[in-house]
Amino acid sequence: MQRVAVYPGSFDPVTNGHLDIVERGLKIFDKIIVAILTNPGKKFLFTLEERMEMLAESLEKFPNVEIDTFDGLTVDYAAHKKAHGILRGLRAMSDFEYEFQMALMNRRLNRDIQTVFLMTGLRWIYTSSSIIKEAAQFGGSIESMVPTLVEKKIREKFNTNN
Ligand code: PNS
Repeated sequence: MQRVAVYPGSFDPVTNGHLDIVERGLKIFDKIIVAILTNPGKKFLFTLEERMEMLAESLEKFPNVEIDTFDGLTVDYAAHKKAHGILRGLRAMSDFEYEFQMALMNRRLNRDIQTVFLMTGLRWIYTSSSIIKEAAQFGGSIESMVPTLVEKKIREKFNTNN
């Protein structure tokens, strides 16, 4: 039986921290579905298509990774995809409360799907899509925090050259 996990998120945009979680998640699961939540209520820098494209290009070397979009509940999507787990990365303590709450709610909603947390690699502990976008917006270097192709796209959005 194939062990499948859904790795849900906004991925606005994908960072090296996300890629690290996928790569390490593949040591536990046979297949990972990276699922972008289509949330019309939230403002994103990149369109859904752009976020999908950046994920697909960044993860093309992994044959057992699928990129998809979903709406509604993550557990419903995971059940629909016959996944056994929901994969999430944990950085600092500050992530914990939100992730803990979400994992417990997800468990209440569907007891057959287990949330699996991986501690973010030390190199990525302080990075997030939001802080990377903020640095880039004001001309700060984001080199080696995101894949090169993503760095280029962020620069284009903000019209900066660093
Ligand atoms: O990258 P993010 O923004 O931290 O990802 C958050 C995400 C998409 C994992 C979370 O908002 C989510 O699962 N949303 C779907 C609705 C849902 O199932 N919520 C949790 C239980 S109510």
